[in-house]
Amino acid sequence: MFETINAAPEDSILGLTEAFQKDPSPKKINLGVGVYKNGSGQTPVLATVKEAEQRLLRSEATKSYLPIDGLASYGELSQQIVFGSDHTILRAGRATTVQTPGGTGALRVAADFVRRISPQAAVWLSDPTWPNHPNVFGSAALQVQSYPYFEPDSNGVAFERMISALETIPAGDVLLLHGCCHNPTGADLSPEQWQAVAAICAKRGILPLLDFAYQGFGDGLEEDATGVRTVADHCREFIVATSYSKNFGLYNERVGALTLVASSADAAEAANSHLKICVRTNYSNPPAHGGQIVAEILGDPDLRQRWEVELAEMRNRINDMRHLFVETLDQQGAGRDFSFIARQRGMFSYSGLTPAQVQALRERHSVYIVGSGRINVAGMTEANMEYLCAAIADVLK
Ligand code: LMR
Repeated sequence: MFETINAAPEDSILGLTEAFQKDPSPKKINLGVGVYKNGSGQTPVLATVKEAEQRLLRSEATKSYLPIDGLASYGELSQQIVFGSDHTILRAGRATTVQTPGGTGALRVAADFVRRISPQAAVWLSDPTWPNHPNVFGSAALQVQSYPYFEPDSNGVAFERMISALETIPAGDVLLLHGCCHNPTGADLSPEQWQAVAAICAKRGILPLLDFAYQGFGDGLEEDATGVRTVADHCREFIVATSYSKNFGLYNERVGALTLVASSADAAEAANSHLKICVRTNYSNPPAHGGQIVAEILGDPDLRQRWEVELAEMRNRINDMRHLFVETLDQQGAGRDFSFIARQRGMFSYSGLTPAQVQALRERHSVYIVGSGRINVAGMTEANMEYLCAAIADVLK
């Protein structure tokens, strides 16, 4: 069976890390995978996470299975951080949450659920989008479509073209929206644009699926929830895929959540029974450790407050790097207006570099960015900035 297998292509993001690790250059820089680095170029464990782990070590009494849909307290706290603690959806019991292995796990459970309930539904993805999106939905045997999103001339959202496309999406299809910090472009919808998009979904009977992997990395925990909460104001049904990889730095613990909002508490409960089948047939039940850390921090006012400070430090450092990057590119004679990068939000920006320039960056300078030209701003530091910008200026010549 295995003798005739041809090797599959490497993952366009995680494959880069493998190549980076093999590169002997002392100057190498990895701006590929979306992992935050502090000013010293490290991805440390947050102090609040360490403290929560110490508490868990002392109090944990069993390693027995979690329920199929995970820790109940984790689900409730996840809903509160997405919607705010006193949202009408929560009071009405219209939300149900399943703890998942990472945001990717939440997306895959959502995909299996849609396929189970509405197999003819297509999933509409922004063009461009996270390269794993089409694979996740395609693997669940759903049809994948795309809608225009990015305007290279303005380095912003191609809003009119996006709206025209949304007006053609059939009722019952799924619209994947990036809740904030669009991956890969860094270009987000404005609050007014969210209103328009949410209104179209409600009017046409489109199911919004929000990939919410960067809450707190853009403008703040509350600010970044504007899109999700606007959808909540307009649509009776939608799904949110949360990731705690970035905002808690829990990348390798695989901590995520799928929150489904239905039009009534009964409908949410019925949906939950199907979500549980999707989980049970996939990975049975979620790993506990990461979810317990998040629940410990979000459920303790003091730890939560200190976590928010750590999150703000990460966010502010990224936004500082955006400005420094623009200035240093200019100083190094890049000869192009990169000021849009300072206006964008989240970990990523589309640099506009061509695939040939991306390859030259890697071969000549050991600087690794995704083939699409996506740059992880959160991997820049004051120490690597000059070398990085000189390298970019060189490949732009
Ligand atoms: C990214 O886009 O780099 C991150 O979301 C990590 C991943 O899994 O691709």
